[in-house]
Amino acid sequence: MQKIVIAIDGYSGCGKSSTAKSVAKQLGYTYIDSGAMYRAATLHFLNKNVNITHTEEVEKYLKSLHITFQTNPVTHEQETYLNGENVEQEIRTMRVSDYVSEVSKLKIVRKELVSQQQRMGVEKGVVMDGRDIGTVVFPDAEFKVFMTADLNIRAARRQKELQEKGTDVPLEKIVQNLAERDKIDSGRKESPLIKANDAVEVDTSHLKFDEQVNLIVELAKKKI
Ligand code: C5P
Repeated sequence: MQKIVIAIDGYSGCGKSSTAKSVAKQLGYTYIDSGAMYRAATLHFLNKNVNITHTEEVEKYLKSLHITFQTNPVTHEQETYLNGENVEQEIRTMRVSDYVSEVSKLKIVRKELVSQQQRMGVEKGVVMDGRDIGTVVFPDAEFKVFMTADLNIRAARRQKELQEKGTDVPLEKIVQNLAERDKIDSGRKESPLIKANDAVEVDTSHLKFDEQVNLIVELAKKKI
């Protein structure tokens, strides 16, 4: 059976990652979380106190940025590694969430991460989620989804997710972070978040998780 590339883009906190992960599992595809790569780059710059307004400094530290993914043998979940260290938990903290969209605006950061993402998808059979996957990373992807959901519903879902991981964050703070990231991601000059012309829009506000996964899997199968 021929393999395709599935691009899932959309607003922050729509459930893109968990949906993409499940879709990949059902199809036997590889899941790639491009947001985790921007988060890992952000953590790297925070750890090294990089002044991101200085292009040369960013360029220098991009050279010492190595992001990989490994599957946890116990949970079977994919985890993000930064220069050999497991940073899966740390990249999801508000410290990183509050800064990641600023880092993601930078042209040189995007250039580097986009080329890594393109290499990861060269053999197809991948589901990649992000903001510019269907428009910039894989403009020729065989199947593109643009996910949306009501902001308050997204924030409540994200709060529950964080609570399950043992972190209590006030709803207001999450609403603010999601809205701010959407604004920066949609308004930036480099690869802004926009729906690709040929993407199917899926509003998940009133869909159960399994419903959104099944819908996307069924639509994807028509392209395979
Ligand atoms: O997907 P996630 O919410 O983890 O992404 C974190 C941030 O990374 C986004 O808010 C956005 O600023 C940036 N991002 C991006 N392009 C992508 C994926 C993520 O700019 N393809």
